[in-house]
Amino acid sequence: MSKPIPHWEPLSDAVLADQLHAYDRQRRACPLARSPRGVSLLRHADVVAAAGDPATFSSAASEFRQVPNSLDPPEHAAFRAAIDPFFTPERMRRLEPRLRAIAHQIAGALPRGAAVDAVTELGCAYAVRAQAEWLGWQGIEPELLAWMAANHAATRSKDRSRTAAVAADFDALVRAQVQRRRDAGAAAPPDPTTELMQVTVGGRRLSDADVVSVLRNWTAGDLASMAAAVGVVLHFLATRADVQAALRADPAGLPAAIDEMLRIDDPFLVNRRVATRATEVAGCALEAGTRIYLHWTSANRDEAVFGDPDAYRPQENAAHNLVYGTGIHVCPGRPLATLELVVLVRTLFELTQHIEPAAGDAPVRETYPLGGWARFAVVLR
Ligand code: HEM
Repeated sequence: MSKPIPHWEPLSDAVLADQLHAYDRQRRACPLARSPRGVSLLRHADVVAAAGDPATFSSAASEFRQVPNSLDPPEHAAFRAAIDPFFTPERMRRLEPRLRAIAHQIAGALPRGAAVDAVTELGCAYAVRAQAEWLGWQGIEPELLAWMAANHAATRSKDRSRTAAVAADFDALVRAQVQRRRDAGAAAPPDPTTELMQVTVGGRRLSDADVVSVLRNWTAGDLASMAAAVGVVLHFLATRADVQAALRADPAGLPAAIDEMLRIDDPFLVNRRVATRATEVAGCALEAGTRIYLHWTSANRDEAVFGDPDAYRPQENAAHNLVYGTGIHVCPGRPLATLELVVLVRTLFELTQHIEPAAGDAPVRETYPLGGWARFAVVLR
């Protein structure tokens, strides 16, 4: 007999008021939860299994083609083979000094001894500049920042026409970058955007629509997740002076430490799938066509794997950390995301003696579709 799946409303005020602990409670009550929009898988084991079974849990869960996010095997592998080389260690090594210069400019211009918002003044500002530098989109940072703010507001308005208009604006911004390089021909700058336009899959260049789709997936979602990740990391460092001191003394531990901070408070909440056939998860029946949410944030706090979800154990928990996903869609941008975060924190360590929470400036949590902090004021000393 199939077990019933309890109902919940992940967009209710009660859940949004404290997403992290609401997910903890829901996961402890039942491994799955159903809302009008689909079924969330909340346990680590079930999320890993579903992400590893794309034949049953297809990524073609949106009405639009997204490259490579919505693709399934075998098409997906060819696109990943084309995209993964953009994030090699050698490329990251070449990018590092340019990111360091940006981090120095941004962090160096912030006031000392006064409240600074880690999410907007550091996270958004740095994510946009870093991404523009990487893609060769220097000069349009103000437009990207304005777009991030408009997208944030539109998503929270739950007004589909507003979100569609913001998405169209972003497409236009990306298309202009592609067109600029087409117009320049052989004089186009040798950056990842130009290179992407020359990539071949199955012996053919990507269509313009696919180039724009890849660029959208490299920027639209990730600017917000990078900014949110900066907020989570700064919050952890500021509120855990012991961890901050240890990392100042040994910054080589930063990549593992940052991954663990993001595991405890994963700002990248969910990804969608659709069941291609009738199946069962944790004894609960799922019909073909059911919309599924792989709940990374909940899975990353599953006590069956991590024990106390809030205990900071970078080494012990690394192998099970799901911040960057798992399976064939595992995040290709992880080396870039890690580099950006490590460079920013190292720079902040170089430029300050101590980072602490701003007294009397209460932090504000972010809400779905993101987690982490919407505002977290720090003082740089
Ligand atoms: C802290 C920052 C980031 C987090 C937490 C994150 C997390 C994730 C996760 C969980 C997935 C799996 C999606 C799934 O299974 O459906 C994913 C996929 C992806 N990420 Fe990231 N990501 C981050 C930054 C980036 C960056 C900087 C880029 C590129 C510049 C990027 C590009 C992508 C792409 C293209 C995919 C889809 C891969 C595929 O479908 O094969 N991500 N990311």
